[in-house]
Amino acid sequence: MSEHFEPVIIGFTCNWCSYRAADLAGTARLKYAPNVRLVRLMCSGRLDPTFVMKALSDGADGVLITGCHPGECHYVEQNYKTLRRYLLLRRLLQGMGIAPERVKLVWASAAEGAKLANEINSFVEEVRALGPLGWPQKLAGNVKEVEVAA
Ligand code: FES
Repeated sequence: MSEHFEPVIIGFTCNWCSYRAADLAGTARLKYAPNVRLVRLMCSGRLDPTFVMKALSDGADGVLITGCHPGECHYVEQNYKTLRRYLLLRRLLQGMGIAPERVKLVWASAAEGAKLANEINSFVEEVRALGPLGWPQKLAGNVKEVEVAA
């Protein structure tokens, strides 16, 4: 594995809590790894599991999902659905031979900028230790095999 591997991580964040926590971390000049590209959702419950699979199949090495703490979702109980989808995703990835640790769920309120920054930093290191996922390259390899066989 290359020592210069920089993981690409997509972060799906809830508008009402963790997106603001990331904003707070930036305002407070807390440093966190620039490897995460944040995608703002109105609620973590908006996260369709296909968003995660698409991110990974398009080249992400990991996906971070963040939302309001249980009991604090602005849409009542949607983040409990997020938790169920997260657990389902981990089982699905494991079944596909992909380390389930490539997907992480973090609860962070708008006031927890430091916590979110720490979680981002630790997740980047966890994914770095796993190495590149390389799903697009693997898919491209499979397409060639199919083309040769046809
Ligand atoms: Fe934040 Fe639902 S509004 S998780």
